[in-house]
Amino acid sequence: MGDTVTRTDFAFSPAITDDAAFAADVDTAVRPSSPRDPMVYQYWWSHPDENWAINRFIVSRGGRRVGHASSEHARWEVQPERYGTVGGELLPMERTQTTLGALFEAMEKRVVADGARVLGVYAYENDPLRIAAIEARGYKEDRRSRRWELDLFANREKLLAMAEISRERMRREGVRILTLAQDDDPSVIEKVWRLSEEAGDDVPTTEPRVPEEMAAYARWVNAPEIHRDRFWLARLGEAVVGLSVLGYPPVRGIVGTEWTATARSVRGRGVARALKCETVAQAIALGVDRVRTGNDAANDPILHINETMGYKLIPGGIHYLRPV
Ligand SMILES: CC(C)(COP(=O)(O)OP(=O)(O)OC[C@H]1O[C@@H](n2cnc3c(N)ncnc32)[C@H](O)[C@@H]1OP(=O)(O)O)[C@@H](O)C(=O)NCCC(=O)NCCS
Repeated sequence: MGDTVTRTDFAFSPAITDDAAFAADVDTAVRPSSPRDPMVYQYWWSHPDENWAINRFIVSRGGRRVGHASSEHARWEVQPERYGTVGGELLPMERTQTTLGALFEAMEKRVVADGARVLGVYAYENDPLRIAAIEARGYKEDRRSRRWELDLFANREKLLAMAEISRERMRREGVRILTLAQDDDPSVIEKVWRLSEEAGDDVPTTEPRVPEEMAAYARWVNAPEIHRDRFWLARLGEAVVGLSVLGYPPVRGIVGTEWTATARSVRGRGVARALKCETVAQAIALGVDRVRTGNDAANDPILHINETMGYKLIPGGIHYLRPV
């Protein structure tokens, strides 16, 4: 089929859904401070997105699995600029600048053969080996993301007090804060989708944002890390004007914000802070010790909210780009 590619002594064979747990193990071994959940990987690997073409591979040497790799791109009809992304990781004992470079090269060939015109790849800013492999392949830094961690034990009283002030403000503003589980509007997922599409366009980015289908939101609310009674919504009358959601990895990993968004019509009125406060107040009640979040380094309003809630910076991500 041409799908099995041999590069130096690595073999790249198409991954199957059952390989997802191995990929989560590899990523966890490389970054033990950010454990990755096998059940979450399995779910997302088995629920493809209408607007994305993702090719996943298992990397082996001498018949032994040593890593995973991917080449992915938005379908060209929804992203005519043709950005392609290469990804993957190798077990720590296999991981050198040369082996990572070979993995990237194999995935670049694949995504270029699919028609990509610009290549992208990610690294954490505290991962000098991966950064060296990326830079050696001619990539240049595009943009950074900030990652944050909030200690829910140390900040408990402050957060619960902030949540109470926010509740009072929302009551004054006539904004109803509730969970998806409490919302009986049959159109709620469609409203969440439309709001997210509007807010998605306001997230700072270099690559043009790829639109999402409503089905992507149905998949998301059914994912193993999502609970409808931990999915916070803001409503103004019939409209959904905000959402904030923490993902709770079911097997292992750190609870983290999946998405926070508000409608343009309500920005600056405290809706995002009120929603984020509900998510963390609930996490405190559930006994969670800390939560993480991430955002683009140029996204000033959310940086400000995170900082004033007590989140502390942890190593963030770097996105690199290279023309084909
Ligand atoms: C980020 C976002 C959720 C904020 O929503 P919001 O409802 O306006 O947020 P709030 O009103 O609760 O709080 C905004 C805070 O940022 C401050 N702020 C607004 N613009 C700012 C700027 N350019 N620089 C610094 N602070 C800014 C506001 O003063 C306010 O601070 P305060 O609570 O101390 O008064 C909203 O802009 C959005 O949906 N953006 C697009 C999606 C997105 O980027 N999501 C988050 C990251 S993935």
